[in-house]
Amino acid sequence: QEILVTVERVLKVDALRRENARLREEVGRLRGVGELIGESPALQGVYRVIEAVKGNKSTVLVSGESGTGKELVARTIHQRGPLAEHPFIAINCAGLSETLLDSQLFGHRRGAFTGAVADHDGVFRAANGGTLFLDEVSEIPLSLQPKFLRAVQEREVTPLGASVPVPVDVRLIAATNRDLEAEVRGGRFRADLFYRLNVVHIEMPPLRAHPEDIPNLVEHFLQSFSRQYRVSPKRVTAEALERLTAYTWPGNVRELQNLIERAFALSTAETITLEDLPPAVAGWTPPDAGAGDGTELSTLGDMERRLIAAALRKSEGNKKEAARLLGIDRQRLYRKIEKYGL
Ligand SMILES: Nc1ncnc2c1ncn2[C@@H]1O[C@H](COP(=O)(O)OP(=O)(O)OP(=O)(O)O)[C@@H](O)[C@H]1O
Ligand SMILES: [Mg+2]
Repeated sequence: QEILVTVERVLKVDALRRENARLREEVGRLRGVGELIGESPALQGVYRVIEAVKGNKSTVLVSGESGTGKELVARTIHQRGPLAEHPFIAINCAGLSETLLDSQLFGHRRGAFTGAVADHDGVFRAANGGTLFLDEVSEIPLSLQPKFLRAVQEREVTPLGASVPVPVDVRLIAATNRDLEAEVRGGRFRADLFYRLNVVHIEMPPLRAHPEDIPNLVEHFLQSFSRQYRVSPKRVTAEALERLTAYTWPGNVRELQNLIERAFALSTAETITLEDLPPAVAGWTPPDAGAGDGTELSTLGDMERRLIAAALRKSEGNKKEAARLLGIDRQRLYRKIEKYGL
């Protein structure tokens, strides 16, 4: 009898624990924190560091190419740690004027500058008790870096127009797609600030360095977009998956995710075939790419130029369509058109 009661209790606890884990996952999803997918050695290293730091408040620097999952890693660290119930605030340090970034980061008092019609907290204070994610941290202007260093070092901020500093208690996670050490060597980023941020370093591998994760990522995005678009999950043909795995993904996981989403947005077909892939991914070569017999190998730049020219011809000069055919965004196409004088 006693044993039965104990067993029952254990089972109940176990069920509760599982329910708890499920709810947690659900909450994560609702908050927009996807799961990190991939089992390659390259990602195992990343998971190990996440596990090691999730329980403490050490400052973390996440570096890596665009679209490799830097923000997802930051959110995961926050979500799995004791600060999960507290705010996660993200700010992109790129593209703001110095005054605006200053006030976004550290806040301002009403009347501190033209347009400051009310007091503003700034993200350091908004994130108090939680995590502050500083995206593109290399873009903080040199002139603002001393003030930033003080905030990181002393954990206090002085809003613009205020005279007394305010203490803040935040976990800092910074991200960069530039080589921050090179920025330091080039005199564009303060060395002391770099050392403050680079306490724990996570380097996100580019997708081409772990292609073995591509099938799992594809499956994950198929599932997640079928939920989002409320349609039954699509399949990818073996041929198409082979091309997806072979492609080098300059835009990394985000580019792969966009490609799968495009299939959901544009087609009701249940399978994604070679024909659905952008030419660059499908390995499509323009009719005049030459080098058929291998005697006349062209340079990569030359190939790229011809590929873009062919795409422009195919789209009859429509750049949006040409960009789609090439599987790159329009900005990038414009830069290439300029570069090659097309
Ligand atoms: N390993 C992964 N598993 C699942 N989804 C991923 C993974 N890596 C990235 N993603 C997804 O890819 C997209 C891009 O990731 P994220 O925004 O974190 O990249 P990033 O490194 O911050 O890029 P950028 O430098 O361009 O801001 C997001 O939608 C993210 O959820
Ligand atoms: Mg990002």
